[in-house]
Amino acid sequence: MTVTVRVPAKVNVQLSVGAARPDGFHDLANVFLAVGLHDEVTAAPADELRITCEGPGSDQVPLDGSNLAARAATALARRHGRAPAVHLHIAKDIPVAGGMAGGSADGAAALLACDALWGTGTSRDELLALCAGLGSDVPFSLVGGAALGVGRGERLTPLPVSGTFHWVFALADGGLSTPAVYGEFDRLTAGTGPTTPLASPPLLDALRTGDAHALAAAVSNDLQPAALSLRPALADTLAAGAKAGALAGLVSGSGPTTAFLTAGEAEAAEVAAALRETGTCRTVRTATGPVPGARVRH
Ligand code: C5P
Repeated sequence: MTVTVRVPAKVNVQLSVGAARPDGFHDLANVFLAVGLHDEVTAAPADELRITCEGPGSDQVPLDGSNLAARAATALARRHGRAPAVHLHIAKDIPVAGGMAGGSADGAAALLACDALWGTGTSRDELLALCAGLGSDVPFSLVGGAALGVGRGERLTPLPVSGTFHWVFALADGGLSTPAVYGEFDRLTAGTGPTTPLASPPLLDALRTGDAHALAAAVSNDLQPAALSLRPALADTLAAGAKAGALAGLVSGSGPTTAFLTAGEAEAAEVAAALRETGTCRTVRTATGPVPGARVRH
């Protein structure tokens, strides 16, 4: 028997970052939207924990115990007093180290897949707690849809959304390290007073009413200057997306993927085609959101 779980990527439509905390994490107001680029994680019985990976960028995915899917299997097995004897195969379509929570997605998917394979019947609350232990973005990968994350981003409140938003994602060559981007954020903001990150009321209204123009006017990412500082060429991609007619463009999470909001499906296809022409990114994908979180595929 095997179990396959399908899990979406995310884009942050708002990422407001406060001061570094004593534990090294930053307080956030993080508005996540799950979008339709998916990884799949398949769990199969095995003598010992083994990870394999296929798909774009899979050569950059660690296959040892540091992989979030491996850590998820180990954490769930420990919780139930059993050995993490499982083969996890990851089929990647979410950009690796791209700021779209690909690693977090694999962690959430592995938890669900192992729970189903082992019949351990872990409650939703326990799964969410295990996710939070794996990483700040992992709970959202389980929940999907749209949500506000506070604390280090792991304490979630689901958000109502009307309709569907149409996105174009410009994938860059190579990844960016999330700790390095937060480090650059600290360097760039040193000397400025501490801010309290708060969710933007106009942004929450735009999600609730499904108004793409209002959402475009409200999106923000405090990590964008840090990502641009580490990867100046991203400014060319953002400029190309704006010129192509996107309603808004921003760095996705810690980057280097850039995300462009468009008015509809036809506009997304146009912006995608125009971005491809510019040669300012490795590849271009379109996707819509919100979509559901990690789910067993039947
Ligand atoms: O939680 P996660 O393991 O995904 O975080 C990766 C890194 O990103 C952390 O080690 C930290 O450097 C940074 N981070 C942060 N504040 C957050 C979330 C992540 O500084 N709220």
